Amino acid sequence: MRYAILSDIHGNLEALQAVLRDIEQQGVDKIVCLGDVVGYGPNPNECVDVIREKAHICLMGNHDYAAIGKEPIEYFNPYARDAILWTRRQLTGDNLAFLRDLPFLHIDGEITFVHSSPHRPEDWTYILTPRDVYHQFNFMQTPLCFVGHSHVAIGFARRGDDLWILLEDEHRLEDHEARYIINVGAVGQPRDQDPRASYGLYDSGQRTFQFRRIEYDIEAVQKQMEEAGLPQYLIDRLSYGR
Ligand SMILES: [Fe+2]
Repeated sequence: MRYAILSDIHGNLEALQAVLRDIEQQGVDKIVCLGDVVGYGPNPNECVDVIREKAHICLMGNHDYAAIGKEPIEYFNPYARDAILWTRRQLTGDNLAFLRDLPFLHIDGEITFVHSSPHRPEDWTYILTPRDVYHQFNFMQTPLCFVGHSHVAIGFARRGDDLWILLEDEHRLEDHEARYIINVGAVGQPRDQDPRASYGLYDSGQRTFQFRRIEYDIEAVQKQMEEAGLPQYLIDRLSYGR
């Protein structure tokens, strides 16, 4: 089974379409979305429409949760808060209903899919450092877990007390005694110094994983964000991927 794993689209339709064009070339069986379809970007409805049509499963992200009014917006920084309030006003009833029904976690064979972390996904814990990730491995019900949320594409592996980081573009996850937590990065708002859209490809037969980075028309999105009156800080950061 070949999976394309997307996360943190954040209303960025240009980035999502570029990623889907790449996915079409890859011969993928299932598209999995790890959540945060909305928030920040100028096309929340269009992105939800596309995900509803294309993704086999979509999980709940913290911005989706806030957009449906479940997560107090006080937890967000002022830019994110403004974008969430703007997004709430845009979303159609149908798309709000879709977001309301999203699950927090999904297990498919040996893989766990979750937006934030395997331990209490609804706490929206960020996995950024080896220290953050170390204890998360204890809460995995499967050997492999894909996450998003931090907008940083990076993988972590643990066998016993040994912990290592996966940074190369391609990996064979061949250590059957190890557990892996892989962050596929963000489609719509990368924060790892690379402004290209990020997603992951996993082949469960070969046990191979690939980080993919895709160019898209950033200026077109920025123009739409300006027209929508979204915060300048959110517009600028797309250029730098941070
Ligand atoms: Fe996000």
